[in-house]
Amino acid sequence: MALDLVKNRKVRKLILWDIQIELLEEFADELRKSFRNIDIITMHVNLAKPEEIYANAEIVKSKHGDVEVLINNAGIVTGSYFMDSLDERNELTMRVNCFAHMYMIKAFAPAMIEKNKGSICGIVSVASYISSPGLADYSASKFACRGFLEGLNGELKQMGKSGVKITCVCPSHINTELFKGFDQMGNVTIEPEYVAYETLNAIENGKELVILPSYLSPLPISKGAWEFLGNLGFPNLDGSNPLKQWDGKVADKVFNKMGSKL
Ligand SMILES: NC(=O)c1ccc[n+]([C@@H]2O[C@H](COP(=O)([O-])OP(=O)(O)OC[C@H]3O[C@@H](n4cnc5c(N)ncnc54)[C@H](O)[C@@H]3O)[C@@H](O)[C@H]2O)c1
Repeated sequence: MALDLVKNRKVRKLILWDIQIELLEEFADELRKSFRNIDIITMHVNLAKPEEIYANAEIVKSKHGDVEVLINNAGIVTGSYFMDSLDERNELTMRVNCFAHMYMIKAFAPAMIEKNKGSICGIVSVASYISSPGLADYSASKFACRGFLEGLNGELKQMGKSGVKITCVCPSHINTELFKGFDQMGNVTIEPEYVAYETLNAIENGKELVILPSYLSPLPISKGAWEFLGNLGFPNLDGSNPLKQWDGKVADKVFNKMGSKL
């Protein structure tokens, strides 16, 4: 599926950043076998650190030139009830899920703005509209990120730079290891391949907001209805914990790589 996504698109170079460099290398090797004509570069970057973002962005620009499509996908979740969570993890969540988008854009968007051409995509979440018990800090980071992208989009248009497109993607629960065991009443689970497919289509078509699955698109205008349902105890406001069965091992591993002490 990942291969189908790249096929027929004029991708010449793919620069992939992640803090889990071993996993990234494995993925890149898989891609290299199928795409001998695409230059695939991997870089170890801790997106929780602005100085690493800026330093590595300079390396990318000097070695490979301007970035045409920027996709900010990295994300992390503490998975704890807020009052039980660690300040350090709350902060890392805000840094990765929101501030990293800001600094990545500051680092790579100037060339796009100058040419009035380019695409920026943020993988955000339905949790940027609706929060749940256990996701308070995660939702805060996603609400903030969506607000940031919306504001920046307006600024670019005001500056006459509507050739720089911003796409905000808000998926519901995705079947990945990060949220393994997540279980919420009324929850909709989608596959990562579907999210990737819809994301690339949205970027190509310059769509500003994508909510997935697409039948949840009325979400921004139906927020009142959701709050009404919330007053009736749905979803999970009845005291049940959607992360009760959550397997936090993947998030723990990534937090540890960020230097989190636990
Ligand atoms: N899985 C879901 O249910 C779900 C739902 C909606 C939105 N999202 C969002 O989708 C995006 C992808 O999540 P996923 O579910 O595919 O999880 P994932 O764990 O497969 O992907 C997230 C990636 O971010 C990387 N990362 C985390 N912190 C980093 C850091 N400090 N520096 C560099 N890289 C870092 C991880 O190593 C990982 O490879 C995230 O932004 C997530 O919040 C996920």
